[in-house]
Amino acid sequence: MESLTIQAIGLVILVTLLLNPVFCLNNCNFPAIFNFGDSNSDTGGLSAAFGQAPPPNGETFFHTPAGRYSDGRLLIDLITERLGLPYLSPYLDSLGSNFSHGANFATAGSTIRPQNTTMAQSGYSPISLDVQFVQYLDFQRRAKIIRKQGFFKNLLPDEGYFSRALYTFDIGQNDLTAGYKLNMSTEQVKAYVPDLLGQFSNVIKYIYDRGGRSFWIHNTGPLGCLPYVMDRFLVTPAQIDKYGCASPFNEVAQYFNLRLKEAAMQLRKELPSAAITYVDIYTAKYYLISHAKKLGFEDPFLACCGHGGKYNYNRFNKCGSKKFVNGKEIILAKSCRNPSVRINWDGTHFTEAANKWIFDQIVDGSFSDPPFPLQFACHRMDH
Ligand SMILES: *[C@@H]1O[C@H](CO)[C@@H](O)[C@H](O)[C@H]1NC(C)=O
Ligand SMILES: *[C@@H]1O[C@H](CO)[C@@H](O)[C@H](O)[C@H]1NC(C)=O
Ligand SMILES: *[C@@H]1O[C@H](CO)[C@@H](O)[C@H](O)[C@H]1NC(C)=O
Repeated sequence: MESLTIQAIGLVILVTLLLNPVFCLNNCNFPAIFNFGDSNSDTGGLSAAFGQAPPPNGETFFHTPAGRYSDGRLLIDLITERLGLPYLSPYLDSLGSNFSHGANFATAGSTIRPQNTTMAQSGYSPISLDVQFVQYLDFQRRAKIIRKQGFFKNLLPDEGYFSRALYTFDIGQNDLTAGYKLNMSTEQVKAYVPDLLGQFSNVIKYIYDRGGRSFWIHNTGPLGCLPYVMDRFLVTPAQIDKYGCASPFNEVAQYFNLRLKEAAMQLRKELPSAAITYVDIYTAKYYLISHAKKLGFEDPFLACCGHGGKYNYNRFNKCGSKKFVNGKEIILAKSCRNPSVRINWDGTHFTEAANKWIFDQIVDGSFSDPPFPLQFACHRMDH
């Protein structure tokens, strides 16, 4: 009862703040974004380190491969656009990068915890969140020194940007599939989720210690609805939900998200000046997949770019894979005719059209805790 009253008061205050121009919150005017994550927000990190994502990735928007595993823009691109900032250069990219308004430390295949297998064995990126944090530290320290030298001044953020920036996170999905790849049961995967969140929270605290204040955290999506998961792991018919997704994997994702939300609450207590926004990407993505037709999309389980099988997904011939026959190149896994009506791009990632739909749901704060729009994510609920 008491907490309901508090919530009601909070809601009234919030509505007042948002509707009453006198009490209107200030736009945060974030001058930079520093992003950490996996392929959901990789703008070219893995490509810079281990080779470009092949065509037709990038075809819709960039008209060439652009380091992203999608036909076009990712959520992070739409976020930077909305904040009036340029697309993020990957920290690892040594060519043509401009970090004046931020940097992207994400790489496809990244996990929160370092894995005990090589990339060749398991496919996970060695640039796990702890490594991304070390790179961020190095970036912050050296940007200061190099700016003083003058020459690269216009390629690096102002020193003051580090405390005023938005720090964005989208990571965890690969930690969950990593356990299944080691033949763990759902119970065994759940058992290490607290460890994942302990390591995740530590990184937020370290960034806070170095001046970061605004954190925008995406929870993990419904991985049980992704062709690569349904294709890779054993799923019995009884485990398929009414929309066609594999329940055990979605349950694990929801369990991770529940603990992530708790971790965010705990961080708000421990970091008195931090604004921490938890964004429920899961619900937005699941709604999109379960209402695909109604929203104007085609079969949400059919990969646009792929090669055969039930989902047009074959893990041995992924999007863009080709073979040579008598010296002639043949593309095996091509794009579909109209990616703008598709949700799934390559079995694992979303199309630009899907990303745009998801972005439109989350940008105004409807899926956020606290429910502030993106531009206001520097404010704490209790301020
Ligand atoms: C890797 O091995 C170490 C040492 O046994 C263990 O503490 C750690 O949890 C393992 N990491 C993963 C991701 O399994
Ligand atoms: C880097 O990008 C910023 C913002 O777009 C721009 O003002 C600046 O001139 C760029 N730096 C260089 C060296 O091109
Ligand atoms: C998992 O089980 C499969 C099938 O029994 C086996 O082929 C594979 O080697 C196992 N993987 C690991 C990492 O134990």
